[in-house]
Amino acid sequence: MSLMQWFLVIIAMAGLAVVGFFVGVTLIERTQARRVAPMEPYAAPMAPVSKTVRTRAAVIYFSRSGNTALAARHVARRLDADIYSLQVPEYELGLTGLAQSALGANARRNDPAKLPNVTPRTIDLTPFSTVWLGSPVWFYSPAPPLWAFVENNRFDGQHVVLFNTFNSNFGDDQIAAFRSKVMERGATSFEHKHVLRGRMTQQLTPEEMLQAIDADWFGTPSGN
Ligand SMILES: Cc1cc2nc3c(=O)[nH]c(=O)nc-3n(C[C@H](O)[C@H](O)[C@H](O)COP(=O)(O)O)c2cc1C
Repeated sequence: MSLMQWFLVIIAMAGLAVVGFFVGVTLIERTQARRVAPMEPYAAPMAPVSKTVRTRAAVIYFSRSGNTALAARHVARRLDADIYSLQVPEYELGLTGLAQSALGANARRNDPAKLPNVTPRTIDLTPFSTVWLGSPVWFYSPAPPLWAFVENNRFDGQHVVLFNTFNSNFGDDQIAAFRSKVMERGATSFEHKHVLRGRMTQQLTPEEMLQAIDADWFGTPSGN
């Protein structure tokens, strides 16, 4: 084979490897999403919220493949909190959504003003004393939908808890930037909780993830 033919073969193999990686990740994500979706169903308490006595917690989260959603339901159940899911249709499960997620995370890292449209855009958070904000880590940072939510809302007088699920690493600089952003938007205090799920082929089971959350975030096992 000529040098040019070898070059084309190597390019084609590299392309196949990239496509194979994305297909593999998508299959794992779909399997995980199916497994965790029915776990720990939770409906917010029906008691009316008081705008004058702020004791309640709200849990607001974005999740693509369901792991942060499961963590959010678990936290909300433990705290008897209201729960809200943030939606960004272009980041849905599947190959296109995965590519859009990577592009969106990269775009925000290069330009923090590049944020997706998130639904709901705003939530009336005035009844709550504590606001939990959850997302996966994308490119070492909370995923763009959570940044978008923070940009559109205020946290006056509130304690904000950022919580993340992730596979391997996050950037302390990114968490510090997120903290600055919520403090700028009125929060009085901030903490970061996180659960390391492990790399794709050797991850915690959902049950192990919840046990880690109980131990590391709450210090006690869940009541049920
Ligand atoms: C586009 C993209 C980028 C990611 N980047 C990181 C990363 O930088 N560090 C990390 O530890 N995990 C990373 N992950 C893995 C997710 O953070 C992890 O699987 C998370 O638990 C998924 O949460 P979810 O099921 O709620 O969507 C990334 C996942 C995606 C889809």
